[in-house]
Amino acid sequence: MGLSVPCFFSFVRFLFCLCFLHHLAVSLHFASSMMQPLCHDDERSALLKFKQSISVDDFYCYDPFSSYPKVESWKLEGGNSSSSDCCSWDGIKCDEETGHVIKLDLYSSCLSGSINSTSTLFHLVHLQWLSLSYNFFNLSEIPATINNLSRLSHLNLSSSYISGQIPPQLLDLPNLVSLDLSDNSFIEVLGNQTYYLELRVPSLQNLVEKLTNLKVLNLDLVHISSPVPHMLANLSSLTYLSLQECGLQGEFPTKIFRLPNLSVLQLTGNSNLTGYLPEFERSSPLTVLAIGSCGFSGTIPSSLGNLTKLVHLDFSFSSFLGELPISIGNLASLKELDLQGCNFSGQISSSILGNLTQLDYLDLSQSHNKFSGQNSSSLPWIANNTRLKFLYLSNLNLVAIISTPAVEPINQKYPIRNEQPNPIG
Ligand SMILES: *[C@@H]1O[C@H](CO)[C@@H](O)[C@H](O)[C@H]1NC(C)=O
Ligand SMILES: *[C@@H]1O[C@H](CO)[C@@H](O)[C@H](O)[C@H]1NC(C)=O
Ligand SMILES: *[C@@H]1O[C@H](CO)[C@@H](O)[C@H](O)[C@H]1NC(C)=O
Ligand SMILES: *[C@@H]1O[C@H](CO)[C@@H](O)[C@H](O)[C@H]1NC(C)=O
Ligand SMILES: *[C@@H]1O[C@H](CO)[C@@H](O)[C@H](O)[C@H]1NC(C)=O
Ligand SMILES: *[C@@H]1O[C@H](CO)[C@@H](O)[C@H](O)[C@H]1NC(C)=O
Ligand SMILES: *[C@@H]1O[C@H](CO)[C@@H](O)[C@H](O)[C@H]1NC(C)=O
Ligand SMILES: *[C@@H]1O[C@H](CO)[C@@H](O)[C@H](O)[C@H]1NC(C)=O
Ligand SMILES: *[C@@H]1O[C@H](CO)[C@@H](O)[C@H](O)[C@H]1NC(C)=O
Ligand SMILES: *[C@@H]1O[C@H](CO)[C@@H](O)[C@H](O)[C@H]1NC(C)=O
Ligand SMILES: *[C@@H]1O[C@H](CO)[C@@H](O)[C@H](O)[C@H]1NC(C)=O
Ligand SMILES: *[C@@H]1O[C@H](CO)[C@@H](O)[C@H](O)[C@H]1NC(C)=O
Repeated sequence: MGLSVPCFFSFVRFLFCLCFLHHLAVSLHFASSMMQPLCHDDERSALLKFKQSISVDDFYCYDPFSSYPKVESWKLEGGNSSSSDCCSWDGIKCDEETGHVIKLDLYSSCLSGSINSTSTLFHLVHLQWLSLSYNFFNLSEIPATINNLSRLSHLNLSSSYISGQIPPQLLDLPNLVSLDLSDNSFIEVLGNQTYYLELRVPSLQNLVEKLTNLKVLNLDLVHISSPVPHMLANLSSLTYLSLQECGLQGEFPTKIFRLPNLSVLQLTGNSNLTGYLPEFERSSPLTVLAIGSCGFSGTIPSSLGNLTKLVHLDFSFSSFLGELPISIGNLASLKELDLQGCNFSGQISSSILGNLTQLDYLDLSQSHNKFSGQNSSSLPWIANNTRLKFLYLSNLNLVAIISTPAVEPINQKYPIRNEQPNPIG
């Protein structure tokens, strides 16, 4: 018994239908990509005016590998402005449905000049994502008109040579999820003058009260010069918090260590900031904990060993008392450990550190830590650790064995292999 005739026909029709539907889908897709709107005239003109207001200068192409002048692709085809789709220009992304410019990424684009409130950049009111990092804005202040960009969720002005007090209008961007204003601190060598961004009035407290959706906050080197507001612990979505060398004072709110999604916490170089470590839970997502050169004190809890996701740990030049807990041997993911200038009591058993098989950076210099069995073969775990690239042991009065047969006295900082150390992970 074969297929009955009607059944055969319906099978063919089924195939036909499938083909037809597929064809229809392809044409619809084609039509929709044809219909993707071109960029809007006013936005194209705002971009071109911004390009005119700023210079492109090879001198400010900071990164020889990734810097290039993206704005050079911003031009009108044959002088006909309505045929030039700015959505296809370098560094620009438009919304697929509305054609509005929603993303402007001019990271490391060799830009130099100043930005002020007359800049047509602030006409791009649909922007959600703006990066101007790694350019030279000649110590411009952040213009108050930044609040025209009310849809911004990501703002990155790191290393862009801006300075001055951060305007209150920056806090009127309620959708901000990621804010990076780091590394804008400069010394003018000739005039012996320093320039930096400041967050005083408004303050960090004001910022934290208004930008409650932040997940990423990097204010490294911004002059904050205040205590850390307890409200910061209310930003429960934070995943990344970096406030290095901000002149922070007072006691660091311990609750912040325990924010449920906080993966990176960097506070190094706030010498007037005091604080204590909390008990850590196994569920903690911390991968980077850098609290060196601050005034943290007290003891290091044994629950440090619960931070099994930790990759970078910096306790350098802190005032912790007592012993380094044995549980540090549980930090199996640790790649960088900086205990420079620490004075733990008791002995650090080399077998603990020997457990850290992923370690490629270890700094024990200027510390008075004692290792069990200090003699010429006291650090055999180093010989077993083939990953270790940087080992600093000055003032430890040790002889270490590195890559088995070589026995070298180590009295100064030096990289074991020929690479630059990377102090901040
Ligand atoms: C703003 O900057 C433009 C160039 O970027 C400059 O021509 C203009 O004079 C500046 N305006 C003010 C008020 O500083
Ligand atoms: C400019 O381009 C548009 C769209 O491609 C076209 O309709 C118009 O005629 C052109 N104008 C000139 C002056 O070439
Ligand atoms: C920076 O601004 C100063 C004046 O404040 C000006 O003399 C200098 O030419 C500017 N530099 C650049 C690269 O725009
Ligand atoms: C703010 O955006 C509106 C709408 O695009 C524009 O008309 C106005 O000039 C912008 N203001 C500034 C200061 O750029
Ligand atoms: C800001 O831009 C710089 C340079 O591209 C990048 O390294 C940094 O991660 C960015 N910051 C954020 C928060 O994405
Ligand atoms: C710069 O100024 C500081 C104090 O303001 C001073 O200690 C330092 O010696 C000066 N450096 C030079 C090179 O003039
Ligand atoms: C911050 O969170 C605490 C509870 O964790 C709450 O009691 C307090 O009201 C919050 N503060 C603000 C201003 O929301
Ligand atoms: C923490 O991250 C998880 C997974 O990304 C997310 O579901 C949760 O809402 C976040 N918690 C907070 C308080 O943002
Ligand atoms: C620490 O506090 C002292 C005394 O208030 C002050 O002189 C010093 O500048 C502060 N240091 C930093 C890095 O803020
Ligand atoms: C954290 O570590 C401590 C001590 O090492 C341990 O007693 C505790 O059970 C751990 N807590 C969790 C939640 O893993
Ligand atoms: C070494 O690590 C293993 C698991 O990775 C752990 O069970 C053991 O307790 C650690 N030993 C020391 C001395 O920390
Ligand atoms: C070094 O590795 C060898 C061979 O795997 C092992 O027998 C020895 O115990 C290790 N030494 C240390 C200190 O981990």
